[in-house]
Amino acid sequence: MAFLSIFYTILLITTAVLSAPATLPAAKLKGRSFEVQRVRRAGYVPHGPAALRKAYRKFNITATHLGLEALDFEPIKLTSNALGTQSAAAKNSTENGTVAAVATSGDTEFVAAVSIGGQTLMLDFDTGSSDLWVFNTQLPAKAQNGHTIYDPSKSTTFQEMDGATFDISYGDGSGAAGNVGTDVVNIGGASVNKQAVELATEVSSAFVQDTASNGLVGLAFSTLNTVQPTQQQTFFENIASQLDEPVLAASLKSDSSSGSYQFGTIDTAKFTGELANISVDNSNGFWQFDSAAFKIGDGDMQAITQSPTAIADTGTTLMLVSPEVAAAYYEQVQGAQDSESVGGYIYPCSSELPTLSIAVGNSNLATVPTSVLNYSTIGMDRSTGEEYCYGGVQSNSGSEFQIFGDVFLKSMYVVFDQRGPSLGLATPA
Ligand SMILES: *[C@@H]1O[C@H](CO)[C@@H](O)[C@H](O)[C@H]1NC(C)=O
Ligand SMILES: *[C@@H]1O[C@H](CO)[C@@H](O)[C@H](O)[C@H]1NC(C)=O
Ligand SMILES: *[C@@H]1O[C@H](CO)[C@@H](O)[C@H](O)[C@H]1NC(C)=O
Ligand SMILES: *[C@@H]1O[C@H](CO)[C@@H](O)[C@H](O)[C@H]1NC(C)=O
Ligand SMILES: *[C@@H]1O[C@H](CO)[C@@H](O)[C@H](O)[C@H]1NC(C)=O
Repeated sequence: MAFLSIFYTILLITTAVLSAPATLPAAKLKGRSFEVQRVRRAGYVPHGPAALRKAYRKFNITATHLGLEALDFEPIKLTSNALGTQSAAAKNSTENGTVAAVATSGDTEFVAAVSIGGQTLMLDFDTGSSDLWVFNTQLPAKAQNGHTIYDPSKSTTFQEMDGATFDISYGDGSGAAGNVGTDVVNIGGASVNKQAVELATEVSSAFVQDTASNGLVGLAFSTLNTVQPTQQQTFFENIASQLDEPVLAASLKSDSSSGSYQFGTIDTAKFTGELANISVDNSNGFWQFDSAAFKIGDGDMQAITQSPTAIADTGTTLMLVSPEVAAAYYEQVQGAQDSESVGGYIYPCSSELPTLSIAVGNSNLATVPTSVLNYSTIGMDRSTGEEYCYGGVQSNSGSEFQIFGDVFLKSMYVVFDQRGPSLGLATPA
């Protein structure tokens, strides 16, 4: 497909990223910007199938792709911490040689500190949704267990929003619902006085079990906000006018225990080379962009026909691509299979992985390094003793867009820019 190469400039920069056809001068670092550390929670054990199921739930995706024959497969022993809440049936699932995709006690890998009315909670920053909701004193005691709880009665700045409710639900009925107020929300020093804070009165068990996170900060567009009768703006939208530049830069880092979110500035010290400017279509409320081509390793450029569009989502762990991309990628990995019993693509850990380059916008190609594509070990084939790994790239099961989560975002410096809107992508420094 030689014609495709004409449209995508490819520039190989170190391990990771990008190419920009036109040089965009990076903005100068100015005064009004605010940074918050993003912390990897203690004791986090990656569990690929659980991460995939969480993403499918979030976007109401029904898994349609069928796996090949199941291996005689033994799952690795994760720490008891990670598997503390799996079901009894799942614990016994090795008896007949298959492993169920069990949920870990927490799916949230990263959280960051947010102050609400002076009370600090660790929340999950999610560029794939638009509600700021928290665990709070209205929840039943059982649901509060292990969580940091926001208490509006102890905040002098909290105000009820009369009659306002919210209800976020996902495909399987998981979600959160409750009522709404406003309070002073401060993230890394950036402060919004009357930010809508959604107070859950019900949360589904997945959120209850995930004690590392006490709620979400939605950072997509407010057309996705679920507050009724009046939709509310996100923290990012509210703070934008106070910032030097209306941007949120995510520097998530794959190798260190933390990363950061920075509001208000594009920090040239945090990336090398040029920042590619990708235009965003926010008509669905997401940070969505064209992604209609890919190539594997040094292979030919191929077209993506099934879901030639993608969203950038910090709230999703894996990188979910069009089924044709996932199939083509794992065809190049020795011994890889789409395992129904595990729930996703796995391969012998000893196999070599090629890089995956995928279009971001219509003139840039991002190369995802193999280090992040190798998500985690997952188990062992009993008959051969071969250890298997779970891929960081998985199929989106034919959903309407591809979901580029942490696996993709961690390998880049990413700027969510309300001008345009647009996304800036560069190789991290
Ligand atoms: C799990 O397997 C053990 C040993 O075979 C059995 O005693 C136990 O009842 C099983 N538990 C469940 C929930 O099936
Ligand atoms: C194996 O065990 C799992 C979990 O108990 C069960 O869902 C599945 O049907 C079993 N498969 C076979 C082939 O017996
Ligand atoms: C999820 O998808 C199903 C089937 O496509 C649909 O009936 C249902 O309304 C969807 N649920 C949500 C919350 O979007
Ligand atoms: C993937 O990770 C496993 C476990 O850390 C490691 O043994 C294996 O060599 C890695 N594979 C590649 C291709 O990086
Ligand atoms: C990216 O492009 C948009 C629209 O074309 C523009 O408004 C924005 O300032 C650009 N971003 C950067 C960082 O140059």
